[in-house]
Amino acid sequence: MTDTPAPDRFRKDFPFFAKHPGIVYLDNSATSQLPVCVMDRLNRYEQFEKAPPFRGMYPLSVQATDDYEHARDMVRDFIHAGSSVEIVFTRNATESLNLVAYCVGNALIHAGDEVLVGIAEHHSNMIPWQQMARCTGAHVRYLYCSREGSFNPNDLEQGLSDHTRLVAITQMSNVFGQINDLRTITQIAHRRNALVVADGCQSVPHIPVNVRELDVDFLAFSGHKMLGPTGIGVLYGKKDLLNCLPPFLTGGEMIEEVTTEGATWAPLPQKFEAGTVNTGGALALGEAISYYNRVGFDEMIARESALTRRLMIGMTDIPHVQIIGSPDPEQHHGIVTFTIDGVHPHDVSAIMADHGIAIRAGHHCAQPLHDYLEINATCRASLMFYNTETDVDAFLNILSEIRGAMGYDD
Ligand SMILES: Cc1ncc(COP(=O)(O)O)c(C=O)c1O
Repeated sequence: MTDTPAPDRFRKDFPFFAKHPGIVYLDNSATSQLPVCVMDRLNRYEQFEKAPPFRGMYPLSVQATDDYEHARDMVRDFIHAGSSVEIVFTRNATESLNLVAYCVGNALIHAGDEVLVGIAEHHSNMIPWQQMARCTGAHVRYLYCSREGSFNPNDLEQGLSDHTRLVAITQMSNVFGQINDLRTITQIAHRRNALVVADGCQSVPHIPVNVRELDVDFLAFSGHKMLGPTGIGVLYGKKDLLNCLPPFLTGGEMIEEVTTEGATWAPLPQKFEAGTVNTGGALALGEAISYYNRVGFDEMIARESALTRRLMIGMTDIPHVQIIGSPDPEQHHGIVTFTIDGVHPHDVSAIMADHGIAIRAGHHCAQPLHDYLEINATCRASLMFYNTETDVDAFLNILSEIRGAMGYDD
């Protein structure tokens, strides 16, 4: 890193911004941009180093195996897992969460059991549990948060029963930006012998995460939200738990021995990585983690927090803008969801788009949360450390004009 001012220093690492100099990209919670080093790593593998890991005894294949396992070690260190066998590469967080729901449902959940799911969950950490409950005869119960997005530990205590086998909850809401105190949640859940499945999709890209300190049983996240390419995700699971689960997908590479009668499973983590794996994606994710390590969370968090403060102070000054969740910028971690009185969120995002500003409108895959808050839809601006003060000001400028553009005169 050089001494150029922070925004420019980061921007030059992201070819996306050179290609789209006019764009104000504020949809980072949906997907983040890629630094050139990540793209280079992906290209290098696909163009010059392509060989299947695990299968060949020739040098390129052996190298692919080493590099793939090195990427797994990078992920292990990034989230402070105890062992690399606890890191399973998947397609994305959605697949990771479906894997846990399917396998835990098969092995550990019975008719009459309960799973407790946060009301603010992304559909990816809600529908798999609903489906699992349908197959097993278990029941899904919901843990409700305050209108600002926080959970009361007492509500968790009361929501747990002798039948609760599992709590599924996000570490950081993709609507509120609020961080849930996972350590307290795991302590309470474990006292009642319930497992904790955490969704780290929004937290892992923005704050340091230590799965051993949090003591979560499973954690799911996606590479494409943390400077990596699409198509690579992660499931962390405690070794003993992963060992006692059946496989999710079956086929090549996840077996020890196959007969016409059946099969036995490969050791962890291969048991959960059926078929030819996404080697390029894993290597690129490893490179993204190297980028995080080079910049450091301290600097990223300082940037995101300063930008969030600027954004929210500006929004608060604009009449008729309602921020969803806490009024305190420190609770938002770059995610600011909002409505404008009298203007449909789709109109807001269409007007923004006309001015080159990319934000999200809809229910952000959290429809039950929107129902609970009694709001049909919202807009969401989400920041990353490579955003700039100029981005925020451009957004605020258009935001202040939207009601006027829709024919209101106040
Ligand atoms: C909190 C949260 N969980 C899960 C997901 C699903 O991620 P993916 O689509 O990468 O599987 C998202 C994506 O927006 C998310 O924000």
